[in-house]
Amino acid sequence: MRKKIVAGNWKLNNNQQETTALISALKAKGSFTGVEVKVAPTSIHLAQAVAELNDSAIEVIGQNMHQATHGAFTGEISVGMLQSIGVNSVILGHSERRAYFNETDEALAQKVSTAVDHDMEVVFCFGEELEDRKADNHFAVVEGQLRKALFGLNPTDWKYIVLAYEPVWAIGTGETASPEQAQEMHAFIRNLVAEAFGAAIAENVAILYGGSVKPANAQEIFSKPDVDGGLIGGAALNADDFFAIVHSI
Ligand code: 13P
Repeated sequence: MRKKIVAGNWKLNNNQQETTALISALKAKGSFTGVEVKVAPTSIHLAQAVAELNDSAIEVIGQNMHQATHGAFTGEISVGMLQSIGVNSVILGHSERRAYFNETDEALAQKVSTAVDHDMEVVFCFGEELEDRKADNHFAVVEGQLRKALFGLNPTDWKYIVLAYEPVWAIGTGETASPEQAQEMHAFIRNLVAEAFGAAIAENVAILYGGSVKPANAQEIFSKPDVDGGLIGGAALNADDFFAIVHSI
C-alpha cells in the first residue's frame, strides 16, 4: 500500500523563537500512525528543527535546493548541505518559486535529477493557474509540467518522488479544489505515470493535494482514492490545525 503523507510548508514564516515554539507545540500533540508527517521550515532553521525534532517521528524537509552540488551560486543551498544536517527530503517546483523566482521546467528537471542522484526524496509541486482551468486547459498544463521535469527520470528514481498537485488558484486563497476536482486530477496524473513508467510505479507514487487544506475540508479531500495526503501552507503554522489535518487522514 502506498504511503500517506501530510507535510507542512512553512514558507517565509517563523523566526527562530517562533520555530521553536511551533515545534514544541507539534511535539506536545503526541503520536500518529499510518501517516508520514513532515515539516518544511525556512532554510536557516532546518538544523535547529532537525535537532528539536530528533526524538519525534516528524521529519524535517527543505523548501528548495539548487541544482548544482557546489560552486559560485551565492545564496543557494545544495543537496549535500541539506543532507549534512540530516535533511533527506526537499520540496521542489512550488508555484511560488516558479512565479516569483523564475524557476523553469528545465531548471526543475535538473534539480530533480540532482536530488534523486543523491538519494534525496523530492516533494514535486505542480498545478495550473486559474486561467488554465477556466480555459479547460488544466490537464494539458499539468501534463506538460510533469513531462518536462519528471519524465526523463529512470524508473528506479521514482522511489524518491512524491507528487504534490497544487492548483495555483487554491493556494492561500481559501478556495480549495472540490474533492471531485482533486480526485479527477490525481487519477489523471496517476494514469500518466502508469503510461510512462508502468502500473506498479504509478500505484506506489503518493500524490498529495495542496491548496487551502484546513481541518474543515481535509477529511473529505483525503477520502478520495487517489489523494494520498496533503501539502499544507497556512494551516500548518498552527499545531492544532495541522494535527487535526494529520488525524483526518
Ligand atoms: P495554503 O494551504 O496556505 O493554501 O498553501 C498551500 C501550499 O502552497 C503548500 O505548499
